[in-house]
Amino acid sequence: MKIAVLAGDGIGPEITAEAVKVLQALDLKFEMERAPVGGCAYDAHGHPLPEATLKLAKQADAVLFGAVGDWKYDKLDRPLRPEQALLGLRKNLGLFANFRPAICYEELVGASSLKPELIAGLDILIIRELTGDIYFGQPRGRRSAPDGHFPGSEEAFDTMRYSRPEIERIAHVAFQAARKRSKRVTSVDKANVLETSQLWKDVVSEIAAQYPDVALDHMYVDNAAMQLVKEPKRFDVVVTGNMFGDILSDEAAMLTGSIGMLPSASLNERKQGLYEPSHGSAPDIAGKGVANPLATILSAAMMLRFSLEQPEAADRIESAVKDVLASGLRTADIHSEGTKRVGTREMGDAVVASLTKKT
Ligand code: NAI
Ligand code: MG
Repeated sequence: MKIAVLAGDGIGPEITAEAVKVLQALDLKFEMERAPVGGCAYDAHGHPLPEATLKLAKQADAVLFGAVGDWKYDKLDRPLRPEQALLGLRKNLGLFANFRPAICYEELVGASSLKPELIAGLDILIIRELTGDIYFGQPRGRRSAPDGHFPGSEEAFDTMRYSRPEIERIAHVAFQAARKRSKRVTSVDKANVLETSQLWKDVVSEIAAQYPDVALDHMYVDNAAMQLVKEPKRFDVVVTGNMFGDILSDEAAMLTGSIGMLPSASLNERKQGLYEPSHGSAPDIAGKGVANPLATILSAAMMLRFSLEQPEAADRIESAVKDVLASGLRTADIHSEGTKRVGTREMGDAVVASLTKKT
C-alpha cells in the first residue's frame, strides 16, 4: 500500500503529521513517501506541482494531502499559484468523484450555529463532480469585448461545460453510494437557466432508471442552498457539478460546527484517490499548533476504506475519533464550555491512544 504524503502549506504539515501518526499506529504495512506541493513547492522548485511530485502521486495507491495556499502567493500568475497543484492533481489523476460527507457528531451538536434539533444526527453525503464544469472549461480569458453590453471594454469569460459521459459516470457513483445508505439522491442543478444543467438533469434521470431501488429528486441550486440551512436532514446523497458542489459542500460543512472536522475523498475510475480535509491551509493559525487534525485523520480513514481496501481499519479510526470527542477533548475550533482544550498534537496523540487501547 503506497501512500504519497503531500503536506503542503500553512497548517498542512501539522495536520498531516497527525494523520500519518494515526496510520502508523495501525498494524498495517504502508510505504509512505513525501513530496512538496503548493506554495512550498513553488518556493523550492519554481512550480506548485513539480514533475517529481506528480509522478509520485500517479504511482501511489492513494495521496494523503494536507492543504495548499497562502495570501503571499496571490500576486503570482494563475498557473504558478498553489491552488493549481490541486487542480493539476485532480486533472492528471482523473479524480472526477469528490465525496464530502457532512456528519454532525453527537458531542458537537452545540458547536453548530443551527438549532440542535435541525442538525442532531445529520449525516449527508455531497458528491461533487470534480474535473469538469466552469473550473476547467475552455475557452477562458480576458480580452477587449468584441460585442456585448459594453463593446471595446475589458471583459473576462469562463466556459461552463459538461459532456454526457462525464455526467453519466458521476451519476453512477451517486446512485451506488445511495444504495449503501438511505437510497435517496438529490441532483442539484440550475436547469431553469443553464444548458449544461438541462443536460445534467436529463442524463441523471436516464441513469436513475438503472437504479429503481433509489429515489431521485431534482432541486435548483438556489433552493438547495436554502434547504440546507432550513431542513438539512431532508437530504441524504446530493450529487452536483463542480462549482455548485464547491459552494454547497462548504455550506454543508458549516452545519456540523467546524470545517476542521470534515474529510474528503476524490476518486478516479481505478479507485485511486486523493484524501484531504475539506478546509484550506488556514494561514491565520499556521505554526501555532492549534489546528484541528481530525478532518485529516478522518480523511485517512476514508483512504483506508476507498483506496486501500481496509474497511475495518477505517472503522477503528472513526470510532477512535468518536471516543476522543466523547472524552471531552477539543481543539480551539470546536471548544465549548465544560470541554478540555487541546492542541493539534495532543489531539492526534489521543486518537492514537484510543486506537491502541482497542487492540
Ligand atoms: P481555510 O479553510 O484555510 O480557513 C477558513 C477558516 O477556518 C480560518 O479561520 C481557519 O483558521 C479555519 N480553519 C480551517 N481549517 C481549520 C482547522 N483544521 N482547525 C481549525 N480551524 C481551521 O480557508 P481560507 O481562509 O479561505 O483560505 C486560506 C488558504 O487556503 C487560501 O490560500 C486558499 O486558497 C487555500 N485553500 C486551500 C484548499 C485546499 O488546499 N484544498 C481549500 C480551500 C482553501
Ligand atoms: Mg471550496
